Amino acid sequence: MASVTQHQIQKFREDGFLVLEHFFTAEECDSMRNQIQRIVSEMEVPPHCRTEFSTKEEEQLRAQGSSDYFLTSGDKIRFFFEKGVLDERGNFLIPKEKSISKIGHVTPHQDATFLHTQPLGRILGFWIALEDATRENGCLWFIPGSHTSGITRRMVRAASGSSTCVEFVGSEPAYDNSQFIPLPISKGGLILIHGEVVHKSELNSSGSSRHAFTFHVMEAKDTSWSKENWLQPTPELPFPSLYT
Ligand code: FE2
Repeated sequence: MASVTQHQIQKFREDGFLVLEHFFTAEECDSMRNQIQRIVSEMEVPPHCRTEFSTKEEEQLRAQGSSDYFLTSGDKIRFFFEKGVLDERGNFLIPKEKSISKIGHVTPHQDATFLHTQPLGRILGFWIALEDATRENGCLWFIPGSHTSGITRRMVRAASGSSTCVEFVGSEPAYDNSQFIPLPISKGGLILIHGEVVHKSELNSSGSSRHAFTFHVMEAKDTSWSKENWLQPTPELPFPSLYT
């Protein structure tokens, strides 16, 4: 497995992201895709939990409502769907293996809005292209250097008794679309994402899928994980340590 160079670390500090091409082999990607497909083919989703996931504030609040399906997903595999795959009654309109959200982001955002730490920005996103990601099928876009100016809003758990399970504090700035640069990457590539860098992905308008696997890692030393985050560790599944 490749290691990163001093130059790459420097680039990450400047840009807020780092592209590592060919980090995983094609076989490793296929194995991850197969595992995802097996989980999806076996998924059982209660009708009242057929939640559409969106980073758009209003839609998110409405779609998630008071469903604890979302808030209790910390130690379970839960499924969030693309828009338009379920009818009003929660029935699938397309085959369920094609229904899952692309684990992608449509609207511009900073991960630290959703995963808050004290001090800020102790999280690092890993985004693995399990297939070629292109401008046509929904690769990531970034505003280079946008990780240095803090965050403007946070998503927090709403007080119990509220009509929604989460709410936003602060406001989302209007980003200048011309500042985003696309980062197409071939299968097996890894993109490291600073917790405060502004990024997005466009909708997949092509005929080819763009599967990706993404997760976040937190620097736990001298860091606290906000109790107001939607995602919480549980006694059954605490956040696993990568090293001690
Ligand atoms: Fe993100």
